[in-house]
Amino acid sequence: MRYEVVLPAAGSGKRMGAGKNKLFLILQNKPILIHTLEVFQNDANCTGIWLAVKPEEREYIQRLLNEHHITKVKGLPNGGEERQHSVHSCIKEMEQVDIVLVHDAARPFITNDIIASLVECADVKGAAIAGVRAKDTMKKVRDGIIVETVDRDDLWMIQTPQAFQFDILYKAEDVAEKVGFLGTDEAMLVERLGYPVHIVEASYDNIKMTTVEDLVIGEAILRKRSQ
Ligand code: C5P
Repeated sequence: MRYEVVLPAAGSGKRMGAGKNKLFLILQNKPILIHTLEVFQNDANCTGIWLAVKPEEREYIQRLLNEHHITKVKGLPNGGEERQHSVHSCIKEMEQVDIVLVHDAARPFITNDIIASLVECADVKGAAIAGVRAKDTMKKVRDGIIVETVDRDDLWMIQTPQAFQFDILYKAEDVAEKVGFLGTDEAMLVERLGYPVHIVEASYDNIKMTTVEDLVIGEAILRKRSQ
């Protein structure tokens, strides 16, 4: 099943404290951004990549794409203030496709089998997102006091990719923009329109490179994979 992917890459990465876009940091000789892009470049079912970028980083990113032979990029629209705006600027430029995936450019360890499961599920059911089961005991805390211990069996930690039939995501983004709703992921926009969103069990390796510790974990994941 074919799909196109939107990769928001226009963040500032402040929590990484690198003084530059964390996606340009190197893991085993390649920028994080290129690790992510190569997963989709090498997936025969991916027919197009849309990358939301900061205007001042477009030229550098274009150079990286050329250097690493990333040929599937169809557009590099300007990112926005929030991640959701960056995704929206890609969706607005895309032509109608059957399935669209949204994936954080900062999650370079996504695998083709998880992508395939998400695409298949979204094709049949409309919306499917990657997640893993919560490992720790989970409590709701307010003002430093436990309010509730939440049943862990019901809790998932949500990742990307998030896969949708194009029309569903388009409508959800359009409505969110009109009413000024800001979500922390695309699924939230779709959920609030009443569509069921299905979960696909992904991998604990599919981390989002956020803080410096993640660079160490990232190197370890790559080492394990190359053994
Ligand atoms: O900051 P965080 O890691 O949560 O961002 C997730 C992804 O969204 C990153 O790949 C980042 O580059 C992207 N992003 C964006 N536009 C923003 C904020 C984040 O494209 N305004």
